[in-house]
Amino acid sequence: ALVITAACIDVKDGACTKVCPVDCIYEGGRMFYIHPVECVECGLCESICPVDAIAYDDELPDALLPFATANRDYFGAA
Ligand code: F3S
Repeated sequence: ALVITAACIDVKDGACTKVCPVDCIYEGGRMFYIHPVECVECGLCESICPVDAIAYDDELPDALLPFATANRDYFGAA
């Protein structure tokens, strides 16, 4: 799944929300989150984020793994 990570915090550029074809990126506090069920994994947001905050959860470095959990938890058990 695609997840948003640390670089988004307090940046919230929002470019990702404009390219997402299914509008599955939601604003939540200090960053944005990708809905894990609604997301169709097209990867458009990953390529457009100016701070490279978006990545596939199976490619995250250990330090960013908590963001995979955070994206899931933000929407409840999905
Ligand atoms: Fe954040 Fe990047 Fe989107 S900074 S709001 S993940 S374009």
